[in-house]
Amino acid sequence: MKLKAALLVLSAALSFNAFAQAPIVIKFSHVVATDTPKGQAAERFKQLAEKATNGRVKVEVYPNSQLYKDKEELEALQLGAVQMLAPSLAKFGPLGVKEFEVFDLPYIFPSKTALYNVTEGEIGKSLLKKLEPKGITGLAYWDNGFKVMSANKPLRNPADFRGLKMRIQSSKVLDAQMRALGANPQVLAFSEVYQALQTGVVDGTENPPSNMYTQKMHEVQKYVSVSNHGYLGYAVIVNKKFWDGLPADIRTALDKAMKEATTFEKAIAQRDNDLALEAIRKAGKTEIYTLSVQEQAAWRKAMLPVQQQMESRIGAGLISAINKEAAK
Ligand code: LMR
Repeated sequence: MKLKAALLVLSAALSFNAFAQAPIVIKFSHVVATDTPKGQAAERFKQLAEKATNGRVKVEVYPNSQLYKDKEELEALQLGAVQMLAPSLAKFGPLGVKEFEVFDLPYIFPSKTALYNVTEGEIGKSLLKKLEPKGITGLAYWDNGFKVMSANKPLRNPADFRGLKMRIQSSKVLDAQMRALGANPQVLAFSEVYQALQTGVVDGTENPPSNMYTQKMHEVQKYVSVSNHGYLGYAVIVNKKFWDGLPADIRTALDKAMKEATTFEKAIAQRDNDLALEAIRKAGKTEIYTLSVQEQAAWRKAMLPVQQQMESRIGAGLISAINKEAAK
């Protein structure tokens, strides 16, 4: 009888303990608005992860550079102050993983299919592996889209860029791209772009329409050229020590939630960009111009040499492997 009572007490204590156990918290920081493809997918991941783990995991999403700006968020991830991020592929250079800048090369992806051949294949996997020595595990690629260029003057020919101060992300490839057009590139954190455009610190920028619209950049940019000259996407990354230290069943559940969130993200990215471009048009402050075939050719001619120019930084082998994959 005594034994039975003791067992009852013990089992009650154990279940109380399990019940009272604090959830594992994943702080997911990002720099864009919640109603962007990345912002919505982060929210979707939160829902899926919390449900799949019966609340044993709690995901806190911090959008819009609320917690950290571009460079700081990568440092915070390495230090373990946040556990998950989805930085643009153009932001891994300062971390020492220059190969990711291959995604920034002008005209490297003729289509989304070409892009997926790379991100979902061996090249994509091997690039994510390069993050491990930095204490980072890559979980997935998320999509945004092809970029447009904007300024307060029409941008129709490469010559129109001459002397313009253009905001870029922290990528040497994007620096070379803007120089190839005769512009002066300036690296600025995403959170600073609107104000920099408004005050004339920079004259123009590039981004997919969903980023431009949700940051209201169109309110301070009179002209947008739909050029699709380059791509912007993300790597969803976690602190490796945190990830490796999770109970195996939790990691499996989170992996599954990430796969589902990724499928969702890819499905909405293009639609969101189309809607954003339409919304910019409707707002009536910005003239949206689609380059003619001749203009497209002139932009291409000006920017394509960047691929060769960047061989020593990124690796000629990687660039040609991607070009080959993209041509399939
Ligand atoms: C930018 O800095 O322009 C983008 O990388 C922002 C983002 O995360 O989409």
